[in-house]
Amino acid sequence: MKKSSKIILLVIAVIAVGAIVYRAVNTAPPASMQADARVLKIMEKGGCAECHIADPKLPFYANWPIARTVITEDIVEGYKAFDVVPMMEAIANGEAVNEVDLAKVEKTVMDGTMPLAKYYLVHWGSSLTKKKSDIFLEWIKEHRAQFYPNPLAVAEFANESVRPVPDAVEYDKAKADLGNVLYHDTRLSADGTVSCATCHGINTAGVDNLKYSEGIGGQLGGVNAPTVYNAYFNFVQFWDGRAATLAEQAAGPPLNPVEMGCSSFDEIVARLSEDRAFVEAFNLVYPEGLSQATITDAIAHYEMTLITPNSRFDRYLKGEKDAMTAEEIAGYELFKEYSCATCHAGVNMGGLSFELMGQRADYFKDRELQEKSGLTDGDNGRWAQTGVERDRYRFRTPGLRNVELTYPYYHDGSVKTLEEAVRMMAKYQVGEELTEQEVNSITGFLRTLTGEYNGELLTNDNMK
Ligand code: HEC
Ligand code: HEC
Ligand code: HEC
Repeated sequence: MKKSSKIILLVIAVIAVGAIVYRAVNTAPPASMQADARVLKIMEKGGCAECHIADPKLPFYANWPIARTVITEDIVEGYKAFDVVPMMEAIANGEAVNEVDLAKVEKTVMDGTMPLAKYYLVHWGSSLTKKKSDIFLEWIKEHRAQFYPNPLAVAEFANESVRPVPDAVEYDKAKADLGNVLYHDTRLSADGTVSCATCHGINTAGVDNLKYSEGIGGQLGGVNAPTVYNAYFNFVQFWDGRAATLAEQAAGPPLNPVEMGCSSFDEIVARLSEDRAFVEAFNLVYPEGLSQATITDAIAHYEMTLITPNSRFDRYLKGEKDAMTAEEIAGYELFKEYSCATCHAGVNMGGLSFELMGQRADYFKDRELQEKSGLTDGDNGRWAQTGVERDRYRFRTPGLRNVELTYPYYHDGSVKTLEEAVRMMAKYQVGEELTEQEVNSITGFLRTLTGEYNGELLTNDNMK
């Protein structure tokens, strides 16, 4: 065991014990705390950290010829699929575990697929007995109820990994109104031809339906434009997660040379300042005046209005049984069975984690054979921000709300139909070959995810 992994495990253990003692001393020990400690113990005993950590501890027989091959392979595959450290740290600190991690572990425990059967053949740990599985699943349920309350869903669906879109989120109306103007304002671009809405049309489901977007002077970007609808619910923005908030995101396009091409926000402020009426209205809401900070803040408030509640699926979760057909409900069951609801969890059904594109098959190799085009900068995904090799080809998962309207699909915009996107997800992310019937069933379900904007069903003018 390398020093660094020893230190990580030690730190987790110390934090766990420390946090538990601290909470025990400072508050009456709540039941949840004992449950946390119990689950950490199960994970420790189950060897989760031995395969799902950067630098794992190896048992003495790891050097035996057969064991070496099997174990090395499991550890490589295990860490590729799941990093257990953030989850164990969160539990130890009494903090929220990421919804996607919860969903993934829940799914593996329910399926009885983890820890791997062959792991026990070499007597390396103890199995998750039925009792331990039940404790684990009950803990996940309680953790969800505590950190991701789901008051909109009826009791039957309160513990689903997917939650309905709320009717509204809190925002400042006056700021959002200014943001609305700025969002549609071509003065944010160098040559006055491009606004946010050029690539994220409000009447075209927040996208441009192009493989790559067209910026000023007809220049093409290198990745597909995700929708602005429900972007608020994403844990970070952009495929590589380089913006932490909507406001931070909004500072990007105006200065991006192929998108809006301005040299600085001073240039934008100067242009907008010539418009006396606008400046007056703006200063009433932002006494500090026009600046990068206030412009992007206003746009962010506007984007908080771009959410789409009341899809047929959400109405079903809220108890309206006939909002979905039997066939569509069957599609939802398949969506859960094939683990789609793990990475595509939460309110936006995605947007909460970075995931490897090609978890179970080499997506980029196959794409190259098909298109004869090599890898692009955009394919690097999260790696572009961290330089960490594990992050290469990992993308901030897209949300699936309104997905029937937001074609083409994937970060490279290479997939034209929803059917194909679903079939390929099963192959590359889940390692399953879907039948035609299953593809149609899941796609049918995904079409129920189209929500309402301003009380009307979201549509896409490009499809009319
Ligand atoms: C012997 C090594 C090993 C141990 C021990 C182990 N895993 Fe895994 N785990 C793997 C491998 C390999 C994969 C990827 C292949 C697969 O899912 O079949 C994986 C995948 C996973 C996934 C991702 C599944 C998905 O669908 O993306 C989760 C979550 C997971 N393991 C959780 C756990 C938990 C929790 C424990 C402890 C109770 C555990 N694992 C113990 C090797 C291990
Ligand atoms: C030339 C087309 C273009 C323009 C103009 C443009 N965008 Fe984008 N937008 C994109 C592309 C392409 C991406 C994905 C880039 C990436 O992930 O690296 C994106 C990403 C985003 C995201 C992140 C969504 C997610 O799921 O990660 C948001 C939010 C967004 N844009 C809002 C805006 C706002 C606000 C403006 C105006 C200030 C704007 N965009 C201007 C093309 C454009
Ligand atoms: C291991 C995590 C993971 C699992 C499991 C998973 N997905 Fe995805 N999904 C992703 C990622 C990452 C992307 C983005 C891929 C890219 O851009 O190259 C994506 C993209 C998609 C898209 C395209 C959305 C868009 O706007 O481009 C659809 C549709 C989709 N997934 C559906 C599914 C379905 C259906 C399943 C189950 C069969 C599934 N996913 C399972 C991670 C996952």
